[in-house]
Amino acid sequence: MSLLEVSGIEKSFGAVSVLHGVDFSADAGEVVGLVGDNGAGKSTLMKIITGIYTADAGAITLGGEPLMHLSPGERRAMGIEMIYQDLALARQQDVASNIFLGREPVRSILGIPFVDRAMMKAQAQQMIDRLGANLPAINRNVGSFSGGQQQTVAIARALTFDPKVVIMDEPTAALAVREVQGVLDLIRQLKEQGITTVLISHRLNDVLSVTDRIVVLRHGTAAANLVTAETDMAEVVSAIVGGAGMPDAAAHEARG
Ligand SMILES: Nc1ncnc2c1ncn2[C@@H]1O[C@H](COP(=O)(O)OP(=O)(O)OP(=O)(O)O)[C@@H](O)[C@H]1O
Ligand SMILES: [Mg+2]
Repeated sequence: MSLLEVSGIEKSFGAVSVLHGVDFSADAGEVVGLVGDNGAGKSTLMKIITGIYTADAGAITLGGEPLMHLSPGERRAMGIEMIYQDLALARQQDVASNIFLGREPVRSILGIPFVDRAMMKAQAQQMIDRLGANLPAINRNVGSFSGGQQQTVAIARALTFDPKVVIMDEPTAALAVREVQGVLDLIRQLKEQGITTVLISHRLNDVLSVTDRIVVLRHGTAAANLVTAETDMAEVVSAIVGGAGMPDAAAHEARG
């Protein structure tokens, strides 16, 4: 059984059926690409996993524990983190504030609580170092950072929750070439630390270079499940647009 198991997910928005019977899984430390056309339902599927959206049917387990009945907060506590496409960072605040947004460490002296800025800064720096990432200065406003640097802050923030699974929605879409490599390197770092990453991306070269497996969403189902080392751009594109004869990662299934 995989760390994350998703089966039979169905979801409609009003009369529009978006997902009908999606199966998806990810092993510990595995990097899984999730691709598909605009509107295929990638973001919707991942928001169902984090609990932002409620599925109409289906089951999800993490480490064998069912979690459909849990709130987004409870799922986060179990180890599921999602970095949204808009990152949801506070642009007017510095790195440490962003990493601890909404759960600043509080210390109490003589009964008076105050936010422990020194601890925040130290832990923020530790997280950035753990990622081996480069940031200009951790006390600068995040709004003055480049797209790639902001993505780094968002990933560092996700890491402070000690996640088992990190879902990234289009993390490289708006980045310059160099910065794209930086984010892909961060994903490789997470993998080394045994963290599972789900990478949603339209940039198929990025997906092919960093993932272990690629799941293709089409017509509301997982239309293909490809082992990255055994596939190529042509096959992935054909699965996205719907070519003939959809190959499956039979080898992966066999490995369990
Ligand atoms: N909150 C919502 N209310 C109504 N419809 C929605 C909602 N969220 C998503 N949809 C619809 O569900 C479908 C799938 O959207 P989703 O955002 O999951 O696609 P996607 O694969 O992430 O696309 P993209 O690659 O463009 O980000 C679309 O038709 C979209 O309009
Ligand atoms: Mg999307």
